Amino acid sequence: MNKILGLFLVLALLIFQGCKKEERLTIAVGGAPSEVEYLEKLIGEFERRTGIHVVLRRQPTDTDQRRQELVIALKAGERDPDLFLMDVIWVPQFAASGWLEPLDGYVRESGISLSDFFSGVVEGVDRYDGKLIALPLYVDGGLLYYRKDLLERYGYAPPSTWEELVKQSKKVQRAIRKRNPSFYGFVWQGAQYEGLVCNFLEFAASRGGGIVDSLGRLTIDRPENTEALRFMRDLIARYGISPPNTYTEMKEEEVRLFFQRGDALFERNWPYAWKLHQAEDSPVKGKVGMALLPSFKDGRHVSTLGGWHIGISRFADRKKEAWELLRFLISEEIQKRLLLDLGWNPGRRDVYSDPEVLKEVPQAEVLQSIFERAIPRPVLPFYTRISEILQKYLNSALSGDMEPDEALKKAQKEAESVFSLYEKK
Ligand code: GLC
Repeated sequence: MNKILGLFLVLALLIFQGCKKEERLTIAVGGAPSEVEYLEKLIGEFERRTGIHVVLRRQPTDTDQRRQELVIALKAGERDPDLFLMDVIWVPQFAASGWLEPLDGYVRESGISLSDFFSGVVEGVDRYDGKLIALPLYVDGGLLYYRKDLLERYGYAPPSTWEELVKQSKKVQRAIRKRNPSFYGFVWQGAQYEGLVCNFLEFAASRGGGIVDSLGRLTIDRPENTEALRFMRDLIARYGISPPNTYTEMKEEEVRLFFQRGDALFERNWPYAWKLHQAEDSPVKGKVGMALLPSFKDGRHVSTLGGWHIGISRFADRKKEAWELLRFLISEEIQKRLLLDLGWNPGRRDVYSDPEVLKEVPQAEVLQSIFERAIPRPVLPFYTRISEILQKYLNSALSGDMEPDEALKKAQKEAESVFSLYEKK
C-alpha cells in the first residue's frame, strides 16, 4: 500500500512539475555577469507589470558557447527557451534553419513602427526571405579606451595611428613598470574565439584588407591581412606591449578587468566596458577616455559591427507572451534605460535624441562615429564555420606556432572547402 502511495506521490510531483514548466515563459540570456544581473531585475519588473512569469536561463559570457547551447535545444525542437538573444552573426544561420518565428504579424498588431529603428540593421540583419525574424536589442562596435591621466602625464594625445599607440605604450610601460611590474601598454581579445576574429577584422580592414570581397569571394590569404596579423603578433612578441596570455586567455571580461585594475594604458573593447570602468569601486573611475580605434598610417579607422538581437523560437509554446517580453525589451523606455545603465546602444534611433540621453551620455558623439565606421562580418548562414577556421589559424599565428602568411594560406584553403560544400547544397 505504501509503495502505491509513494508511486502516486512521485507521479503527482512529476505532473505538477510538468505543468509548472508549461506555465513559464523562458528566456535565454548571457553576457558579462553584471549585465545578466541587470536583465534579471528588468525582467522582474516585466513580471510585476504584466503578471507573466518568466524563467531566465543564464548563459555564459562567451558568444560561441552561448550559440552551442542554443543550437542543441533548437535542433532538438525543444519548447524552451521561448525566446533568446542572438549575436548578430548567428541570425542568418538561425533564420536559414527555420528556428525563428516570423514577427511581422506581431509588429503590425502592436502598431510598432519599424522606421524608429536603424533601417540598415533591421533590413540587413533581421529580415530573412522577406520576413522579419528578429529585432535588435543593442548594437556594438569595437573602440579604444585609454588612460586619460597617464597620457596627460607623459604629454600624449590619444593615438590616431597604431604606430603611435606602440610608441606611447612602450614609453609609458617602461616608466610604470618600475613600480608596477604587471603593467602593459595595450590589452585586446586574442583568445581562440569569435572576439579574436572581430579584433583581426579591425586591424585587417584598417590596413585595406578583409576576408570577403564585394563579389562575395573569400580573400583571407592576401598581403594586407598578413601584415595586419603580423602586427598583432608583434604587439605581443616584438614590442612586448600586450601580455603573453593575450592568445590563451584574453576575452572581453579578462581584458576589461585587466584594464580596470589599472594595469594597462590602452584597451580594445565594446561599449559595455565604459559603465563598468566608471563604477564607484573601479580603480580607474574618472581616468578613462574613449576614442575610435587607431588606423595604420594612411589606413582607415574601423570597428567591427557587433550586437545582439532577440528572436522567438519557432518551437516556443508561449509565443504570445514571448512577444510581450520582446516588445517590452525593445520599447523606447527600456532601450533608454539599457543605454543609460549598461551602456548598450539602442538599435532604435529615437533614443539618441532624448534630452536626458544627450546630457547623460557624454561619449554619444564618439559612439555615433564608431557606428558610422563599423563594418559587418560576412552575412552567411555558415559564417560560424568560417569563423572557427579563422579562430584556429589566427590564434596559431599569435602564439608563434605558425607564420602569419602560412596560417592565412591554410585558413583560406579550409574556408574554401566549406564555401564549396554549402554552395553545392
Ligand atoms: C560582442 C559583440 C558580438 C561579438 C562578440 C565577440 O558581444 O556584440 O557581436 O560577436 O562580442 O566576442
